[in-house]
Amino acid sequence: MNKEGILSRLREENVEKLETLWREADNVRAAHVGDAVHLRGLIEISNVCNRRCAYCGLRADNRSIGRYRMTTEEIMLCVHDAVDYGYGTVVLQSGEDEGITGSWMSELIRRIKAETGLAVTLSLGERAGEELLAWRKAGADRYLIRFETSNRKLYELIHHRKGARPSDRLAILENLRTMGYETGSGVMIGIPGQTYEDLARDIILFRELDLDMIGVGPYLPHPETPLGKNDGDFPAAGVEQVPNTELMTYKVIALSRLACPEANIPSTTALATVNRQEGRELGLQRGANVVMPNLTPPEYRVLYEIYPGKACIHETAGACASCLNMRIISINRRTGTGPGGRRKRALTHMGQNLNVNERG
Ligand code: 5AD
Ligand code: SF4
Ligand code: FES
Repeated sequence: MNKEGILSRLREENVEKLETLWREADNVRAAHVGDAVHLRGLIEISNVCNRRCAYCGLRADNRSIGRYRMTTEEIMLCVHDAVDYGYGTVVLQSGEDEGITGSWMSELIRRIKAETGLAVTLSLGERAGEELLAWRKAGADRYLIRFETSNRKLYELIHHRKGARPSDRLAILENLRTMGYETGSGVMIGIPGQTYEDLARDIILFRELDLDMIGVGPYLPHPETPLGKNDGDFPAAGVEQVPNTELMTYKVIALSRLACPEANIPSTTALATVNRQEGRELGLQRGANVVMPNLTPPEYRVLYEIYPGKACIHETAGACASCLNMRIISINRRTGTGPGGRRKRALTHMGQNLNVNERG
């Protein structure tokens, strides 16, 4: 699949041809990662953020939300809930919170590893190399950091840079991989100013980066942000503007699966937000193989409003657990057990596929 091929499928409107795309993606998903849907329990450990990304509701100068940082004890209660619900992984996510220190996080990771058999995924933003290394040594298995868009100019416009140097998330991803993390990245779909060409390049970059995990979702305007209010020098939508729709999200999920057959791809909360009825299921039937049930306690969950109308924001951990289990059964898939890391396949001299490396 070259860029032209990706572009034409991103622009596809024909219902039958789209059905073919969904079928192809579903077949590749079944052949390479199987029918298991892996559950990653999401704990939103802090909504404090020192950055001011133009698109995100957690940005430092949004004064309309209360801020919280969970204690170790509070987090460990959620971690044990993850074990009870049968999840194989916990994802610790936060804004870019300087109050989360390197040593505190190392201690937390060690404790999770000592008390449970869970895989630990971190999603804590752009942190110093020494911290990332210390967390890896403490036992963290995976790290998620989206590059948001491969269009450098657009990225610079919407992503708040700290200090003089532009942030370089691709370098961070490379660094994480060298440290032995499974690495995850992804983009938002339909950012104002994002073109079809940009999005095709994003998908090619997923493949070039050989990502273990790929998370994508529609951009959803937040009224308390500059991009949401459109008060800044943001590009006006042109003819090549990608729409931030449900359909475009399925196209990107399906094409990501075709580009990266072995990757773990979640059916995201942002997708569930644009179609509460069956967004998650359709994502899983068009290339995705992972869901991320939320474990965050209700009183904090309502404060983690990256974008408005976020699905599950008024639910409990138990509600999300049973809801997702039912949804998985309803589409004739099964719930994955164990950590569900990426399986890397390599060709042998016999030309057969062999599992050479089972990480996580
Ligand atoms: N709409 C959709 N996704 C968003 N994110 C941040 N703000 C928004 C928004 N307004 C996504 C970014 C970030 C992830 C944690 O949430 O891709 O990496
Ligand atoms: Fe902070 Fe991340 Fe939101 Fe940027 S996207 S404001 S770094 S939480
Ligand atoms: Fe949270 Fe359905 S996944 S209520």
